[in-house]
Amino acid sequence: MNRPVFDIEHAKRILRDNDLGGYTVPTKGLYPFQWNWDAAITALGWMEAGDEPRAWLELEMLLKGQWDNGMVPHIIFHGEADTYFPGPEVWGVENAVKTSAISQPPVLATVVRILFEQSKDRALAEQKLAALLPGTIACHLWWYRERDPENTGLVCSYHPWESGMDNSPAWDHPLSAVPTVDWEYTRRDTGHVDAAERPHKHQYDRYIYLVDFFKRNRFDSDAIYKSCPYRVQDIGIIAILQRANTDLLALCQSRIDDDSTRSLQASSARTAAAINELWSDELSCFVSRDTLTGQQLKTISCAGVLPLFGELASPAQASAINESLDRWIDGAPFGLASTHPDSETFEPQRYWRGPSWLHINWMIALGLEAYQMPERAEQLKQVSEACLENGDFWEYYNSVTGEGCGGGEFSWTAAIALHWLKS
Ligand code: DGY
Repeated sequence: MNRPVFDIEHAKRILRDNDLGGYTVPTKGLYPFQWNWDAAITALGWMEAGDEPRAWLELEMLLKGQWDNGMVPHIIFHGEADTYFPGPEVWGVENAVKTSAISQPPVLATVVRILFEQSKDRALAEQKLAALLPGTIACHLWWYRERDPENTGLVCSYHPWESGMDNSPAWDHPLSAVPTVDWEYTRRDTGHVDAAERPHKHQYDRYIYLVDFFKRNRFDSDAIYKSCPYRVQDIGIIAILQRANTDLLALCQSRIDDDSTRSLQASSARTAAAINELWSDELSCFVSRDTLTGQQLKTISCAGVLPLFGELASPAQASAINESLDRWIDGAPFGLASTHPDSETFEPQRYWRGPSWLHINWMIALGLEAYQMPERAEQLKQVSEACLENGDFWEYYNSVTGEGCGGGEFSWTAAIALHWLKS
């Protein structure tokens, strides 16, 4: 077995240091609460660190913030902290557990399945699975009921933060149609991280307008669906949800056989039937779509590769994407760059406009394996390992130089290294 390129003890220490008692902050200061998809990825790290109860607890804590309608919010404000904006008072959610009012890519069911399959303590795994399944099913049903009320098969997102890929160039156009917030606020992110690695003020002004908009609409699903000034079918969320559907239905088999699972099967089939609406021949990639204008959002981004992970691509689409990865990785060798390096909007260090993210590389590598492209999957593993060679676990990496960016001592980078890059 090859030696890992990173220090395993350092990665485990990051998880322990970021543990605030049952939930893990992504990094201190910049993100001082529990985030939805961070929590799921981080649970994989806890499992690999040998602490199975702690891995399950991360997911149980996440579901403590679940809304009655099934939504798993993108931030759970378990504790208090004054290092983040916008905090719970800005979101204005009155639930007992304070949360944000949007969700995030639903990788949860995929992680539950991995934990369940890797678990050594089978009794604990059965018990935790039974506890987590109802909430996870409710979360999937929520996506389809609330975010695809017209049964198109393609769920929509109301905020760039919901995509997890906040300032992707894909959102530039739909976000420009959103008004700017009309009150002054102080950003906290640029107090922790170089502004050159974060979104611009003109984007934040609109992010915060949307946060206000949800509150003004009393979080009413119908009203928001009808009048939200930002409503995008996000290919990243759709692909991750599809993969999670498959994993969830596999977990339900022989355990749960009811209307919910039949409904999920039907929704998942609708997604598969509709996915070509989000394929761009011109770009040889999947793209998102602005549902308010009907226009595809023509950006080549890592989200457009995620349909491999969701097994939504046809073999021809998968090989067209695979071909484009040659130039993608040549142009940004510490990849996979979140925006294609030949794109005019590519910035290798700025958040989701070009850096690489190890958890995305992992998902894409799993997708490539599913399409029998093991060499490309191996290449993604190698470029991810290259990011870790300087010994630190950053939030993301400059895809051209490999320099660490964003928050340091970052939980999901440590976790995915433990889960994916240990051997
Ligand atoms: C942030 O605050 O930057 C987050 O990405 C929002 O979830």
